[in-house]
Amino acid sequence: MTALKPLYAKHLEIQRRHTDEALAATGFDALAIYAGGQHMQFLDDQPYPFKPNPHFRWWTPLAEAADCWIVYRPGQRLQLVFLQPNDYWYKPPEMPSDFWTDSFDIKIIREAPEAKAFVSVVTRCAFVGEWREEFADWGFTGRNPEALMHRLHYVRAFKTEYELECMRRASQLSARAHKVAEAAFRGGASEYEINMAYIRATGQTENELPYPNIVALNANSAVLHYQNQERAVPAQLRSFLIDAGAQVHGYASDVTRTYSREDDDFAAMIRAMDVEQLGLCSEVRAGVDYADIHLSAHRRVAKILRDFDVISASAEEAATSGLSSVFFPHGIGHLLGLQVHDVAGFTVTPDGKQKARPTGHPYLRLTRTLEPGFVVTIEPGLYFIDSLLATARTSPLGSKINWQQVERFKPYGGIRVEDNVAATNGEPENLTRPAFAAATAAG
Ligand code: GLY
Ligand code: MN
Ligand code: MN
Repeated sequence: MTALKPLYAKHLEIQRRHTDEALAATGFDALAIYAGGQHMQFLDDQPYPFKPNPHFRWWTPLAEAADCWIVYRPGQRLQLVFLQPNDYWYKPPEMPSDFWTDSFDIKIIREAPEAKAFVSVVTRCAFVGEWREEFADWGFTGRNPEALMHRLHYVRAFKTEYELECMRRASQLSARAHKVAEAAFRGGASEYEINMAYIRATGQTENELPYPNIVALNANSAVLHYQNQERAVPAQLRSFLIDAGAQVHGYASDVTRTYSREDDDFAAMIRAMDVEQLGLCSEVRAGVDYADIHLSAHRRVAKILRDFDVISASAEEAATSGLSSVFFPHGIGHLLGLQVHDVAGFTVTPDGKQKARPTGHPYLRLTRTLEPGFVVTIEPGLYFIDSLLATARTSPLGSKINWQQVERFKPYGGIRVEDNVAATNGEPENLTRPAFAAATAAG
């Protein structure tokens, strides 16, 4: 496996350069990044699950980081202010020792307020993180200043080789778990059981996973962010949609597959979607406007709908009239990285100029022109959603829909196929497909 240490060293070099430019352009001398703190549940002594904020994770993969800080000053060694409380109720976090720790001066504190001594000595220091009133007299000259945040977010789209390697590994973990989930479906498991099998196969806890798994049988697959886990197995198993990822050092994979129980028309429709999805993946190239890939997806989904006799309009007409949106009502994808829906999808210049979505496409999350190093998802979908179909039925679009076919496919819910793809200087790199091929070969 590729060693992470040299990749991380290079990643830091690039990140320092980006950060120095952002600080210089916005009038700051330093950054103090607060990982965040625990949030207690109302009237309880239990905290909600904790995740350090993505700015913190951009510098270090340290996960047990509540009330920790990173202090960054151009040209100086990085400082990690590390909270290691004297606590006999909970196990205090261990002193970190990993491929990244050599790059930091680690300052141990025993109580959260002791961090003030390290961050308040810095002049013109911007605070980045979730603000707390107790920091009011710590001497910060900006709180998540917008101009600075735009610059930091803009450059996060350009993944370094270290980040790409973390994402390749996340893809491998999720591909292996997807194979386990598929086997559980074929074995007749419930949504709950499939989800547990998936989580176990990743070796991660539910809180470590990058987003809540979507594990849907039959018509539940038509709910885009389906959140339940039914314990009962449906009397007739037809289809299975799973949208589930993994993370490595904070970097996510975001992967969807759909299966039909029988080799029926729905299985053929899934295969047709797979072909179109691969076509869309090959459109991920430097210089391509991502919104154009979204529009291409509408034409491709419309073609499937026509080929399967669900609509009577031409693909072009369906894509422009809003007919394809009845069946494909979300965006073709988004930037992926430290966050599943990574930041700055509409930010086309470092100083924060925004580019709007094409009219009629309110859920597209990315309108930037792709550049080498961008990692995006490509996730076309096609669903039979009651509420959208009901609205279409009473509109002029209704006459273009073959309602008999809709009734046939409705019990299957829908289809989504989602891969993670990196734009390069040449051919796109699909992070997901080779991971599935390796997982299949490994049995
Ligand atoms: N898993 C959420 C998404 O695909 O965007
Ligand atoms: Mn997804
Ligand atoms: Mn996605």
